[in-house]
Amino acid sequence: MTQTSELREAALSVRGNAHAPYSGFKVGAAIRAASGRVYRGCNVENVAYPEGTCAEAGAIAAMVAEGETRLAEVYVVAGSPAPVPPCGGCRQKLAEFGAGDVAVTLATVDGAERATTIAALLPGAFDAGHMA
Ligand code: THU
Repeated sequence: MTQTSELREAALSVRGNAHAPYSGFKVGAAIRAASGRVYRGCNVENVAYPEGTCAEAGAIAAMVAEGETRLAEVYVVAGSPAPVPPCGGCRQKLAEFGAGDVAVTLATVDGAERATTIAALLPGAFDAGHMA
């Protein structure tokens, strides 16, 4: 099993735990951190809609909670007809913890995949250097 297919399995399995009663749109994210460990997250919606959180945010929070801050690879899967693009906020969250060349795979449950990178998802990203 490749590292990417390991991430796919992790993202698919955590997607099953998504709490998405309002949108009906379940998303799973798996990230491999610099250590090699895999962290998972799913979207968690709320009856107060803006309080919902995305799958990517959950996976990043799980990574940081374990003391890791560097992303090596990202995989996101949803039950959409085409690979789902991360929202703007999640693009910024990914850029916080991953270099521009970090591989991001966007996928459907059916197996379609789109390969991209953090930099391609967020060109011209605001980063700490802009505050120097
Ligand atoms: N969602 C994610 O979790 N990640 C994405 O990349 C796109 C959207 C979630 C948020 C919300 O719970 C549902 O999908 C519909 O927007």
